[in-house]
This record gives sequence, C-alpha cells and structure tokens, in this order.
Amino acid sequence: MPRAQSRYVCQACGAVAPKWAGKCESCGEWNTLVEEAAVEAGPPKGLGRGRGKKLDFVALSGTSAGAPRRVSGIAEFDRVCGGGLVPGSAILVGGDPGIGKSTLLLQVAARLARTGAGCAYISGEEAIDQVRLRAARLGLAEAPVRLAAATSVRDIVASLDASDLDLVVIDSIQTMYVDTLDSAPGTVSQVRAAAQELIRLAKRRGFALLLVGHVTKEGLIAGPRVLEHMVDTVLYFEGERGHQFRILRAVKNRFGPTDEIGVFEMTDAGLAEVSNPSALFLGERRGHVAGSAVFAGMEGTRPMLVEIQALVAPSPYGTPRRAVVGWDGNRLAMVTAVLDARCGLSLGGRDIYLNVAGGLRIAEPAADLAVAAALVSALSDRPVPPETVVFGEIGLAGEVRAVSQMDARLKEAGKLGFTAAFAPPRRGGSKPRAGDVAVTEIAHLRQLVDLFEPEARAA
Ligand code: TYD
Ligand code: MG
Repeated sequence: MPRAQSRYVCQACGAVAPKWAGKCESCGEWNTLVEEAAVEAGPPKGLGRGRGKKLDFVALSGTSAGAPRRVSGIAEFDRVCGGGLVPGSAILVGGDPGIGKSTLLLQVAARLARTGAGCAYISGEEAIDQVRLRAARLGLAEAPVRLAAATSVRDIVASLDASDLDLVVIDSIQTMYVDTLDSAPGTVSQVRAAAQELIRLAKRRGFALLLVGHVTKEGLIAGPRVLEHMVDTVLYFEGERGHQFRILRAVKNRFGPTDEIGVFEMTDAGLAEVSNPSALFLGERRGHVAGSAVFAGMEGTRPMLVEIQALVAPSPYGTPRRAVVGWDGNRLAMVTAVLDARCGLSLGGRDIYLNVAGGLRIAEPAADLAVAAALVSALSDRPVPPETVVFGEIGLAGEVRAVSQMDARLKEAGKLGFTAAFAPPRRGGSKPRAGDVAVTEIAHLRQLVDLFEPEARAA
C-alpha cells in the first residue's frame, strides 16, 4: 500500500503547511503545527464537475423512532449515558490513571454481553492475562466478551468490520496507532487519526464505541481537547484517591442530559453501584459539631445530600489562607464578602478551610447558604441545629434567593431522617410542601447569622 502523504495543520488557525515548522506562518503561533494524514483525494478544490445526488427533504414532524438503546443493566452507568448506549455512537470515558476506567468498562461489557449483545474489549494497555485476571476477580470470567490485545487500528478495523457487534471498548485510545502516521502513539495526531477511523467504523457498523482516554496533567483528554469534539458523549470518571467513591459525570452528551452523575464505590470485587448516594456521603458525619452543615443539593435529576465542613482560624500570616476542596473558591470569596459587608461578620484576618465531604464536587449556587451556615457555625463555635439541611442562593445584597426543585430537596431530606431545613422563601410566596420537614425561611443572610449567636458578629 502506498504511504499516504502527511500534512501539518495549525491547531490555532487551521492553516495547512506541507512541512513541520515551530511557528505557524499564517497566524504566528508557536508549536501549533500537528501532523495529520492527508485526506485520500487531498483537500477538495471547489466542487468541480460531477453531478451530486438529490437530497430527500422531509417535514420536521415525522415518525422517526427514538434511537433504540442498549441498556447494560448497570443503572448508574445507563443513566449517565442518557438511558443506555445508542448504537453507532462514540463515547469517551476520561479520567486519571488508576481511577477505575478499565474496571468499569469491563463490567459494562460483561453485563451487556450476558444480555446476548455482542461485546468486544480491546486492550492496548494490558496483556490478555491481566484482563483475564481482572475478569476473574470481578466474577465475570464466564461472560461471553470477545477479548483481544491490539494497538494497530488497521488490524482492529479489519477484525471488527466483519463481525456483528453491539459494543466495542477500546482501552485506551492513547495506545492506538494508525500506520500512515510517523508520530508515536499517544500524540495528538495519532489519537485523533485513530479515533477518527474507529468512530467512522462504529457509525458504519452501528455499534456503540467506548473509548478510554487518560487525562493529561493539565486535565485535558489527550492534548487540546481533540477528542471531545469528535465523539457524541464525553464522560469523566472521577474520585479522590483516598476515597472509595467514584463519580461518573457526563460533560457532553448528544443523546441525553449533561448534568447527571453516577455514583460507584470501588470494592474488592469491582465497582458497586451506589443507588442512595446521600446515605453514603453522610455516612461519616460525626454528630453535631460546629462548622458542619448538610447541603440538600441536586445532581441532575437526583437530589443528593452532602456535608459541607468549614474551619475558621485566626491567621498567622498577613494574607490569610483560603483552601477549598469540592467547591468554587471565587464563590467562597463572594459569600465571605457578603457576610462581611451585609452582616458585619468579618472573616478578613482568618484562615478559612472549606471541604465538601466524600470527594464530591459541587457547582450549584444553591450551596451558598449551606457554605455560609458552615462558616458562621465554625466562627461562632455553635453547631447547626440537629437534623437540619440548608440550601439557597445568596445575592450580593445579602438576600437569599429561591432555587430550583425545592420540593425534591426537602423530600430527600425527609427520606433520610432530617426534620428541619433552612431554605429561601418561595417565589410567589407559596408554602413549601415539605412533608415532615419543618422549614425555616431565610430571606436575608442576616437572619441566618442571627440564628447562631448575635455576638458572633462582633468577633
Ligand atoms: P483500573 O480499572 O485499572 O483503572 P484505570 O483503567 O482507570 O487506570 O483500576 C485500578 C484500580 O482499581 C487499582 O488501583 C485497583 C483497584 N481495584 C479494586 O479496588 N477492586 C477491583 O475489583 C479492581 C478490579 C480494581
Ligand atoms: Mg486501565
């Protein structure tokens, strides 16, 4: 086979150069030229002659059946995918090395294979024996998954094109290479070319393609997010090393919502689903101590209670420390500024440590009030009243605003044995349907501060 010509494409401006150079001639950026396999017939030069095929236009309304989905039976995984795997779609599963991507995908493949679907697992990282050992450890050795160890995309395409499959796992895309490029596996051009070939095959053969991608130091999947644009769905598998919780998060999904998360627990026998994450995240809570507040949050469609811990200490340094785990540091700065300006509670000369227990990361503004409660509680050395959840968004004037899904949050709190809530007043003044949970409405942050100890304000 003749060797295809390579070309070099600037990742910043898209200019094409025949040779590599350190600087792009066109836009002047440095180190942006990346080798690419030239398209078969070279770049199109206008449309030329040749008649095109006529398009069939149809009405917007119609009876297209929704994509039939392949349900693996691992509910936490299926939900994050938007309700199962869509045939012909490509899904990128990113995460730090060692977080459990291979384990998760082997479990998905095995579960799906047991339902009668054709599943292949291609490992470029581990030898057959290693994957078999893991399968045995997971109790999945007898599942009819087709296993192979390979890294050449040409071999993989040749083998998969002939077979009838519903799911193919590529572990990992960074180990795959196409032989028309000179660069080493794992480089941007190789990763992109390999993914392109495999995605094209998945579309043609109609199998769901799961690509494992290791996250680089900068937190990006294989360089400048090259893969995220090419696939239909991007899932991140995250977790703290020291914790056994793992969270699967959709950051892009053409076939479903992107705010869903799946929660797993890494056990001796693989990843176990956690169907009641609130109980898990609150499991290690220690009675009523100052500086701890339970936030009633939402992750996608699911309510989730998490503990927020704060520690406030006089700072030995001129510039106090602000250390935040699991929340946005800028948001903390805003909450402390509002506490200072609107409630006269000065945190300026103190170190603040804020931690979302269990390794979860919260992005909701609804956590503002829970963070404020943890901070005020820590400062006044008085615990938040027992069995109380907190939520609400804080505005710059100190007002506490209503948040979405208040009923769902209160219901989850009631289900887990909480009996009280600090919550914002409802829009339109309607009373919350709180069931057994007694709601204390907080319209202004000052009301929350007063609940603790007025003297704390002078501190
Ligand atoms: P792995 O799936 O290999 O991670 P990745 O593919 O993301 O690099 O998971 C590796 C870690 O998971 C390893 O540290 C061991 C642990 N593990 C368990 O705790 N229990 C198990 O049943 C398995 C298979 C792995
Ligand atoms: Mg792996």
